[in-house]
Amino acid sequence: MPGADGSRPGHPSAAKALHWITAVCVLGMLGVGLWMTGLPLGLLKLQVYAWHKWIGLTVLALTLLRLWWRWRHPPPPLPGALPLWERRLAHAAHGALFVLLIAMPISGWTMNSAAGVGLYWFGYLPIPDLVPRDPALFEALRTVHRILSKLLIAVVALHVGAVIYHDVFRRDGIFRRMWFSGGKAP
Ligand code: HEM
Repeated sequence: MPGADGSRPGHPSAAKALHWITAVCVLGMLGVGLWMTGLPLGLLKLQVYAWHKWIGLTVLALTLLRLWWRWRHPPPPLPGALPLWERRLAHAAHGALFVLLIAMPISGWTMNSAAGVGLYWFGYLPIPDLVPRDPALFEALRTVHRILSKLLIAVVALHVGAVIYHDVFRRDGIFRRMWFSGGKAP
């Protein structure tokens, strides 16, 4: 429901900041991930792979932090005028995004362990191996990571498409709830 001054309840600033930092990282990760596998073997490829892994682990940490934040500060309800099927689809897409933002980095991390490659977060913090070196598991996880990335692209496209539809056609303030000059935190 709009407030007395016509504004709609929005997300707290910390939730907005976490959302947009994650969005930039994930879009970059998808683009860079698809590009880097085609690079010729060399220093650039090794550096891009390292950054991909570091930012991917950062996305995992940010997602866990967001889930904790959401549990402590439940998001404002969706606009009451939203039909039930849209409400269900929105909740399903948000749930799928959270699952994929945990499964993507964990599959990458496990793939890295199975490859037997040591991992230091941003070159400093040692990251423990999740599984011992196993070439067959590495190949399987490579496929899993690839399939998950396609699913993530599909769910992100649905999420962005829904926001554009609501902002342009329905004009119900869904985007402004998540933008910094938009709805007020309840
Ligand atoms: C949100 C997190 C992540 C996203 C969105 C992401 C996305 C991607 C994408 C789109 C690809 C290209 C897949 C393809 O071949 O079509 C890729 C490849 C790869 N990712 Fe990630 N990734 C993430 C996290 C990680 C993490 C945490 C690691 C390791 C610690 C990792 C390691 C790799 C590796 C090694 C490849 C190349 C696999 C190959 O050479 O075939 N990724 N990733």
